[in-house]
Amino acid sequence: MSRRYGAHFSFTEFGSADFIAQKHPDTLKLYHFTEEERPIVFQIFGSNPESIRQAVRTLRPLEPDRFDLNMGCSVNRVAMKGAGAGLLRNPERAGELIHIMRQESQLPVSAKIRIGWDESSLNFLEVGRVLEESGACAVSVHGRTASQGYKGTANHEPAGLLAAELSIPVFGNGDIQSYEQARAFRKEWNLAGVLIGRASIGNPFVFSSVGPAGIRHKIEAARTHLELSLSFHGIQGLFIFRKHLSRYLDFLAPETRRFYLTERDPEKLHRALEELALLPPGIDSGQPPIAESMPGLDLELAPEEGQVISEVHRDTCQDRLWADDWSLTAGASGGASAVE
Ligand SMILES: Cc1cc2nc3c(=O)[nH]c(=O)nc-3n(C[C@H](O)[C@H](O)[C@H](O)COP(=O)(O)O)c2cc1C
Repeated sequence: MSRRYGAHFSFTEFGSADFIAQKHPDTLKLYHFTEEERPIVFQIFGSNPESIRQAVRTLRPLEPDRFDLNMGCSVNRVAMKGAGAGLLRNPERAGELIHIMRQESQLPVSAKIRIGWDESSLNFLEVGRVLEESGACAVSVHGRTASQGYKGTANHEPAGLLAAELSIPVFGNGDIQSYEQARAFRKEWNLAGVLIGRASIGNPFVFSSVGPAGIRHKIEAARTHLELSLSFHGIQGLFIFRKHLSRYLDFLAPETRRFYLTERDPEKLHRALEELALLPPGIDSGQPPIAESMPGLDLELAPEEGQVISEVHRDTCQDRLWADDWSLTAGASGGASAVE
């Protein structure tokens, strides 16, 4: 969905290099993708050079467009083992891993970092330099420290400082809520692009310059998303889709929304969404009379003007994978994409 609405590329969720090396089926599933999602970046995490080598060797036949080393995950079971954000404390090891990934894949390799382990060790410049020297083709920066987790607000300045320091593309990330904010972030700090994660959940419109989506367009996108999720994941796709559906239907009052979020039959849900789309003309206008005639429509939750995004970007931007004119990149929770 992100790619259809303008994201320039996609990230997979990260998988453990150890598990990939052991060909663990659940981990390998993370790297299933559709051609439409290309350019696709396979992200992995680990700290052991041999596991990383084996992981890349295992995934390479799936023909990703790029590999990415996760250096941002701060959860204990990852970071305390020296992987994810734990690599910020060992930049030389990170450089070694990048080198191995390049050698083994013969593809471009990037890394996603945080700005440091904690406030007293903001070493993003040093880490960025090591990554560049080791052959990384790009670096993405989530503007928080590892010890911050998700607390506080993301600091956007470090990504800009790193972009000024390095000659490879630098992408900024953290707390971006809209296309306009992303553009401003990119422009202010002269970045190659911006990754958007949480704000893209149930909101692929964030990758489009056309503006906020109206109610009808949200329903239409939700239906398409449901179909894609089911065709990709099978019945499990319904449950995976729910976190997106909650946002797509944010114009409904919570009790009405619950009806859609608890439906267990995909066909019934599809039909219910179809019926929801048959709301009286003018529903997108957000005018109070319609709210009165439609119990459950919560206009406080639906301030949009009803502007429908009509243009769906389908540029694969394969040939621009490393070009300077990337404007935005998206990183959904555990996945990412990029936008124009
Ligand atoms: C549920 C969840 C899963 C995530 N999984 C990954 C991941 O697999 N790889 C990664 O690099 N970042 C992951 N992230 C971090 C996001 O990509 C992003 O860096 C972070 O959420 C800040 O950006 P945002 O404010 O745009 O969400 C995850 C975040 C969340 C909330």
